[in-house]
Amino acid sequence: MPPRLLPASDNAAIDLAARRLAAGSLVGMPTETVYGLAADADNATAVHRIFGAKGRPADHPLIVHLAPGDGPQGWGAGVDHYASEVPAFAAALMQAFWPGPLTLILPRRNGVAAVAAGGQDSVGLRCPAHPVAQALLTAAAAQGVSGVAAPSANRFGRVSPTTASHVAEEFASMADEDLLILDGGACPVGIESTIIDCTRGHPVLLRPGMVTVAQLEAACGQPIRERDEAAPRASGTLESHYAPRARVRLMDAKQLRAAFEVLGRDAKNIALYVRSPIEAAKGVPHRRMPDDAAAAAQELFAVLRELDATGVRLIWVETPPADPEWDGVRDRLQRAAA
Ligand code: TXA
Ligand code: MG
Repeated sequence: MPPRLLPASDNAAIDLAARRLAAGSLVGMPTETVYGLAADADNATAVHRIFGAKGRPADHPLIVHLAPGDGPQGWGAGVDHYASEVPAFAAALMQAFWPGPLTLILPRRNGVAAVAAGGQDSVGLRCPAHPVAQALLTAAAAQGVSGVAAPSANRFGRVSPTTASHVAEEFASMADEDLLILDGGACPVGIESTIIDCTRGHPVLLRPGMVTVAQLEAACGQPIRERDEAAPRASGTLESHYAPRARVRLMDAKQLRAAFEVLGRDAKNIALYVRSPIEAAKGVPHRRMPDDAAAAAQELFAVLRELDATGVRLIWVETPPADPEWDGVRDRLQRAAA
């Protein structure tokens, strides 16, 4: 039997999921960004199951999720378990954005989460804000699980899941006893966390998200640098990622209308995600992109899945605004189109 969804509103479901984690099994975990495929970060066998289920190369490091803050500095005690050092600017970022959609890459303590870290001498840490993730991480911590490794719960290279049924679709071939999926509803942020590398003496942006560079700079009082060639590899930063089956093409409004005029008459194979309606596109599967970046992020992956499911060969997307609050959405669309 394929994996079933368990309503996360039920305390018994959280307890069962925490026991599954403690026993080395996998859990589909809702977070405020996207659903994660979770396992005990210190259990190498369990973490190998994540790589196997996703089809993800084992040298791609996973983010370790921590229960919310009972640690000495107000963040989770798990930070000291996994990180050997927390630079002052990283502490300021934790203070400002945890719990929330921000991941910090920190120097890894020897001997912990080695498999989850994919062989890096660093570890990615995040304390999620979603109440179900927090309840699960707290219940798991009570069973001795210090942190939970969880990449997005999709097969490698595909669109991240923002509902529990997306997770069930991705892992339909797994057995119910091997994957418990907690249904916490649709993820409110909708795209993955912003990632900041804190191992180079200054903050470096590895992946844009809904926490913006301006907000990060204000919180830590330092410029956030762009990543360079020496930056560690991150699968969310591979050029082609988040790809549906259909080919995604990004175009500005003028290009898109012109292309539609030329090819659109026989548009059976095209779906559109556009900022303003196109007269000629009646009858073509299409969705209107919200004017607000947060609203667009929230629905982005679900819209890509929905348009993909119509069976079209092409998804034409209008380029989002150039403003910084759209950085995360623009980044995911560029990768979907690469
Ligand atoms: O919002 C999110 O971050 C979601 C939810 C589930 O928390 N998780 C997520 O995980 O997006 P994943 O595995 O799909 O993306 C994690 C990214 C990858 O690009 C990975 O390479 C990078 O974080 N990463 C993790 N640990 C790292 C490390 N030690 N050094 C460099 N990059 C790291
Ligand atoms: Mg991912």
